[in-house]
Amino acid sequence: MIGVFDSGVGGLSVFRELYALMPEQDYVYLSDAAHCPYGNKPVEYIIERAEAITRFLIGKGAEVVVIACNTATAAAVKYLREKYPIPFVGMEPAIKPAALTSKTGVVGVLATANTFKGSLYHNTLEKFASDVEVIEKVGEGLVEFVEGGLTDGPEVEKVLHRYVDPMLESGADAIVLGCTHYPFLESAIRKIAGDGINIINPAPAIALQTKRLLESIEGRKPSSSQYSFYSTGDTSVMHSIVSKIVPSVPDQAFLTVKV
Ligand code: DGL
Repeated sequence: MIGVFDSGVGGLSVFRELYALMPEQDYVYLSDAAHCPYGNKPVEYIIERAEAITRFLIGKGAEVVVIACNTATAAAVKYLREKYPIPFVGMEPAIKPAALTSKTGVVGVLATANTFKGSLYHNTLEKFASDVEVIEKVGEGLVEFVEGGLTDGPEVEKVLHRYVDPMLESGADAIVLGCTHYPFLESAIRKIAGDGINIINPAPAIALQTKRLLESIEGRKPSSSQYSFYSTGDTSVMHSIVSKIVPSVPDQAFLTVKV
């Protein structure tokens, strides 16, 4: 059983890649919609939420927890790994592939304020982006669009222009999607940035990392493609996104829960 969580539906962009790679696995997803967004919340608060959700997922049988949230990973992954005896897979902005593939030597990173503040991001920058210019933009308002089921149209594009235009004007030829909500905005970003820009979503790499981790766990229980999707708030947007990924998931798999 793979446990996956995010502050909301953003983590479903990771679940989508996990499912594509390992449809046979059992999944339990939690969207912390009642406490979303995390991007500007105090780190202690995010750790508290991440721990409560981790305990919930372990209680549902999770053998590994994918923190499908850059903000929660930045705030809580070290604490959770020290406290809980199960493997955690965390997110980190895909600076390395952006820096390695950039021809202009200028890359844009879209993420939340807390992700940019985290040591994980700064260590990644130092390690892989010392010889490129990084244009950082906090994607204020983007999470709320996705949580409301709005992923394109003039209102979304108006806000995206605020973040993407300065990246393009600086000569960026890569844009890193540093928040799991942002892959749902990829087509709107592509419309603004054009085809020549490399838009990097780390979710496929996270799915591969999770697969490798599962293969290293001895004596796992056989899986039977069971899926449960929980939300601490409304489930409707989660339901509509999941139905496009796994049409066969029954309505009763979507539940509101207090965590
Ligand atoms: N989707 C999450 C991330 O990857 C969190 C966004 C938020 O709740 O602010 O950072």
